[in-house]
Formats: sequence, C-alpha cells, structure tokens
Amino acid sequence: MKISTHVMAVGLAFALASCGSDPAPGPVEQIVVREPGEAAQPVAAATDEEAGTETDLVATGETVFATCSGCHAVEPDAAAMAGPNLAGIVGAKAGAVEGFPYSEALLASRLTWTEAELDAYLADPTGKVPGTTMVAGALPDPDRRKAVIAWLATTGSD
Ligand code: HEC
Repeated sequence: MKISTHVMAVGLAFALASCGSDPAPGPVEQIVVREPGEAAQPVAAATDEEAGTETDLVATGETVFATCSGCHAVEPDAAAMAGPNLAGIVGAKAGAVEGFPYSEALLASRLTWTEAELDAYLADPTGKVPGTTMVAGALPDPDRRKAVIAWLATTGSD
C-alpha cells in the first residue's frame, strides 16, 4: 500500500513537472490558485472577473434585445414601432413617450421603470400590468432580463 501511494505521488509530481514545461500551462494555474499561500490571487482574479462580467452582461443584453427590436427602437430619435422607443427607459416614468398610443392600463400603472420594476414587467408583462398591450416579448429567464436591463441602461441621450 505504502509503495503504491508513493508511486502515485511521484507520478503526480511527474505529471505536474511535465505540465510545467508545457507551453499551455492551464491546468497548473488552477492548482496554484488552490494553494494556501496564494490566497491574495483568487481575490484579484474575482475582481477582474466581475469587471468582465459587467461588460459581458451588457453585450449579452444587446443580443437579448433582438427579441424586442421587432417592436421597439432604442436610438433616441427613432420613431415608435409597435411598441414605444425605449431609449433611456431605465429610470423613466412608464408611458412617457409622447404620442405613443399606450394602453390605459400602462398609463394608469404610474410605474417608474426602476430595474426591479422592469424585471417584473419583462418576466410577465400582463401579470405585472393587467391590460397592457405588450402581449409578446416576455423573458422568463432572469439572467436574460438582467442582461437586457443592463444593456437598456446604456441607451438614451442622458
Ligand atoms: C410584440 C411587440 C413587442 C415585443 C416583442 C416587446 N414589446 Fe415591449 N411593448 C410593446 C407594446 C405594444 C408596449 C406598450 C404597452 C402598453 O401600452 O401597455 C410595450 C411597452 C414596453 C415597455 C414600457 C415602455 C414605456 O414607455 O413605459 C417596456 C419597458 C418594454 N416594452 C420593454 C420591452 C423589452 C425589453 C422587450 C424585449 C425583451 C419587449 N418590450 C418586447 C410591444 C412589444
């Protein structure tokens, strides 16, 4: 038993050593991150990842918006389509695009489109605002809602 354990350890060390000389050291990096002495490194990596995630989120949101762009424009001066222009919608009052024929229900909702309200409306438009004329475009997936809201927040003329 002892001998075979020893042989395995040597085998592992050898595998690590040969990985170390490999020009693609991916697996070795993962092992290094788990060592107690490297505690600072994962924290730094997490910060980088978060920054990357925020950028990815906006990029993903732009892709998700393809499910909305049949009914909504986002360029600030673009005309309304079946739905109102959504430029700068995050933080705006519901039903505020002048000239758009909103439903009575949306006008009466007196909502302000905070991220939370948008999230609820996009999850289930007719559930959140019974009588809304937005009868398609719901996003059941919370990650897709989060992404499209992050992207919408980058639109508008501020
Ligand atoms: C089938 C067309 C259609 C699709 C697809 C659609 N919408 Fe809508 N949307 C509408 C209509 C119509 C309204 C106006 C609703 C009302 O007046 O009750 C609206 C209203 C809205 C509002 C409120 C706007 C305001 O000025 O208060 C938001 C926000 C919104 N949509 C976001 C989205 C997002 C994000 C998507 C994609 C995930 C999407 N919509 C997909 C038709 C659509």
